[in-house]
Amino acid sequence: MVVDTIRTLKLLGKWSGNRIMGRRRPLIAVFSLTHYCNFFCPMCPFGVSDKAGQLNVARKYDLTTNQWKGIFDKVSKYCIWSIVEGGEPTSRPDFMNLIRYLHDLQLPITLITNCSLIHNIDLAELRNYVQFITCSIDSLFEESYCKVRGVSHETFQRVMKNLDLLEEHQVPHYFNSVITKYNTEEFINQTYFDKAKELGSNAVSLTFVEDRSDVDFSLLPDRQRMEKVCESILEYMKHHSSPQIMIPAQYFEQILEHGRGIFEECGVWKSVFVNSNGTVMVPCWKFNSPDNTYNLLEKNVEEIWDAPQWEIARTCHDCQVLGCIWYSSQPITTFARNYMRGLRKMISQHKPEFSEL
Ligand SMILES: C[S@@+](CC[C@H](N)C(=O)[O-])C[C@H]1O[C@@H](n2cnc3c(N)ncnc32)[C@H](O)[C@@H]1O
Repeated sequence: MVVDTIRTLKLLGKWSGNRIMGRRRPLIAVFSLTHYCNFFCPMCPFGVSDKAGQLNVARKYDLTTNQWKGIFDKVSKYCIWSIVEGGEPTSRPDFMNLIRYLHDLQLPITLITNCSLIHNIDLAELRNYVQFITCSIDSLFEESYCKVRGVSHETFQRVMKNLDLLEEHQVPHYFNSVITKYNTEEFINQTYFDKAKELGSNAVSLTFVEDRSDVDFSLLPDRQRMEKVCESILEYMKHHSSPQIMIPAQYFEQILEHGRGIFEECGVWKSVFVNSNGTVMVPCWKFNSPDNTYNLLEKNVEEIWDAPQWEIARTCHDCQVLGCIWYSSQPITTFARNYMRGLRKMISQHKPEFSEL
C-alpha cells in the first residue's frame, strides 16, 4: 500500500531526462478495463441504453486477462501511478486478478468506480492493493443522482450501502462529482458539503461536465447557473477546510472570468489512456480516426509517443471545463499543492499508518 518512493523518484528522473532531450513520455497510466458499464449516464459514451449490444462488444473486443497483463508490463516501465476505470471496471470477473497484478508491479492504483457492484468484491483484499477509490457520486441526493446517472432508486440505495461498506473496511475513498444542469442546486445552496461529511467523505473533487461530441446530450448548465455554482464553491472553500476540495480555486475562478478553464498547452500526453481493446488514440478521443489510433498490443510506448499527432495537443484548447485535462495542463506545482494535500488528508483518515505518499 505504501508508495515505493525510490521507484517513483527513478521514473521521475527518467521522465525529466526525456523532457530535457525534448522527448515526451507518459507518467500516468489510465486503463479503461472494459467497454461495458451497467449505468446510463446521459453525458458519458458508456451510458448507452443498449446494454445487451454493449456487452456483446465488450465480450468481442475487451482485452483478455493476459493481454491486459502484457500491457501493464509495458506501461509500468514509465508510469508512477495508474488509474483503473472503464466502462465499469468492477464488472470484469477478473477484476481482482488484474488489480493484484498491477499492485505486484508496484504501480500505485486509483480505482474509479460507480460503486454499485463493490459489494461483490472482497474489500478487505482490495484495500491492500489500491491507494484509494474515486467514487463517482455525481449527486448526493437521490432524485438528481438518479437523473445524472440514469439509474433507479434501488441502485442509489445500493450505492449508499456500498459507501458504508467502504467505511466499514476502511478503504480510502473520496467523492468525484460531475456538475451538470441536473445537480447545480446542491452546490449553490451548499447542502452538498454537509451531506458529503455525513456520508463520511472528507475530500471531494468537483468539475463541470464536458459536453462531448460523441454523446447526444448536452448537460452543461447555462452560463449564469455555472457562475452561481463557481461563486458558491469558492465561498465555501474560503471558510471551510472540510471536506477538502481537491480542485484548486483557480479552476472555478477561470470559469467565472473566462467561461472556461485556461491552460497554455494541453497536458494530455502526460498520461497513456489505454482503451478496453488495447488502443491508444493520439492525442486523444477527440481525434478518433484509424490514422490516429495505435494498438499497444502491437507497438511499444516509445513508438506511440514519438507519433507526429501529439503536435495537435500543443495548440488544441477544445476541452473547456474537463477537470482532468485542466489539471494535467497546469504547472506541476498546482497539482502538488492541491491534489496531493487532499489525498493525504483522505488517506490518513482511513489509514493513519499509511498517510505517507
Ligand atoms: C467514464 S466513468 C468510468 C468509471 C465508472 N464507470 C464510473 O462511473 O466511475 C469515469 C468518470 O467519468 C465521468 N464522466 C463521464 N462522462 C463525462 C463527461 N462528459 N464530462 C465529465 N465527466 C464525465 C463519470 O461521471 C465518472 O466519474
